[in-house]
Amino acid sequence: MAGIEIDGLGKRYGALAAVDDVSLSVREGEFLTLLGPSGCGKTTTLRCLAGLEKPDAGEITIGGDAVTSVPEQIFVPPEKRDMGMVFQSYALWPQMDVFQNVAYPLRRRRVRRPEVQRRVGQTLELVGLAALADRPVTRLSGGQQQRVALARALVSRPRVVLYDEPLSNLDAKLRATMRVGIRDFQRELGTTAVYVTHDQVEAMSLSDRIVLMKDGRVQQVGTPRDIYERPRNWFVADFVGYENFFDADIVERAGDRAIARLDGGEVALQCFGGPAGRGRVRLCVRSTALSVLPAEERPGDRTNTISGRVRDSMYLGGQIEHLVEVAGTVLRVRGADPDPAGRTVSPGDAVELRIPAESIVVLDADDEAPEPTTRGKQDNLDRVGSP
Ligand SMILES: Nc1ncnc2c1ncn2[C@@H]1O[C@H](COP(=O)(O)OP(=O)(O)OP(=O)(O)O)[C@@H](O)[C@H]1O
Ligand SMILES: [Mg+2]
Repeated sequence: MAGIEIDGLGKRYGALAAVDDVSLSVREGEFLTLLGPSGCGKTTTLRCLAGLEKPDAGEITIGGDAVTSVPEQIFVPPEKRDMGMVFQSYALWPQMDVFQNVAYPLRRRRVRRPEVQRRVGQTLELVGLAALADRPVTRLSGGQQQRVALARALVSRPRVVLYDEPLSNLDAKLRATMRVGIRDFQRELGTTAVYVTHDQVEAMSLSDRIVLMKDGRVQQVGTPRDIYERPRNWFVADFVGYENFFDADIVERAGDRAIARLDGGEVALQCFGGPAGRGRVRLCVRSTALSVLPAEERPGDRTNTISGRVRDSMYLGGQIEHLVEVAGTVLRVRGADPDPAGRTVSPGDAVELRIPAESIVVLDADDEAPEPTTRGKQDNLDRVGSP
């Protein structure tokens, strides 16, 4: 077991900075996930950690030992780094059976035969494959093959395990099962883990902390809850599924509390945090945090309640999404359907839109807009909070 320090890591391919000045600490025993859209540099970072890629800048230490240092010209080869790796393609040896595949890392280290027997047996037990030890790996299902790959990475009890999208070739049900499996092994073994995925649910459910990357650079590091509830910029907010972004001005501040005025809006919104002082900001809020009331139920206390009109409604199975126009902006609002209070609103209706203060995230107004393709279609399917 060991902590990892990455300092100023850089890797270029020609003119492209695949990894650009990345610095990270992974604590001993921590499960850290690199999350981000395709091409953001997750795999390249992981390969630099593994020693499969030679960076052109920066340093990496594992358990206090430098394994890579560009300034000091240190480069420890992969096999001397004491790491296990699990890839998206299982990379098993097809001519070997389950036992032989898992035993391979131990045999290469010349571990004695009875010890190999014991440790492979134990590890196959852990991944639930003890009964299939003699099966050729070519006669296993995808999920079973991935468990063999996992066992092979864990069998020598490496101080660090690196995972690169290990579940993305599996169907959704198996992915969910393996997710729990990986979390259990990690807890049991207490190994430091760095995990790469572009799947938000996987990252959230497995990780102690998440590193969100874009274009080779770190955008935010935080617990799953931090990232989900307190995204630091537009890109992160969009990536973790915030749907509504609108411009406003902070017109008043008292401690952490701020009053924002929407463009063209009459009503002031209470919110928390954001850049210090007053002035232009961008607010973002999840569709599920908003609620609509029919206009005749307009509350006496109008705090964070804005009048608007329903433009369109879509039934999503168990949920309904309304597009509500308020102060010249159209916001997406999602709620349970049927509504627990028995209210219905329809396109054309005048409504009151409630935006709870604590659900509003205040961002810098000049944040760069994310590309529309940031969120892959596949991500949308298993996004947290989707129906
Ligand atoms: N061997 C290579 N030669 C040239 N460019 C590369 C090479 N490997 C990666 N790249 C580029 O570097 C960038 C980062 O790639 P990387 O594989 O690290 O992304 P990723 O975040 O793992 O993406 P994905 O989710 O698609 O696996 C991409 O633009 C990619 O095209
Ligand atoms: Mg990758």
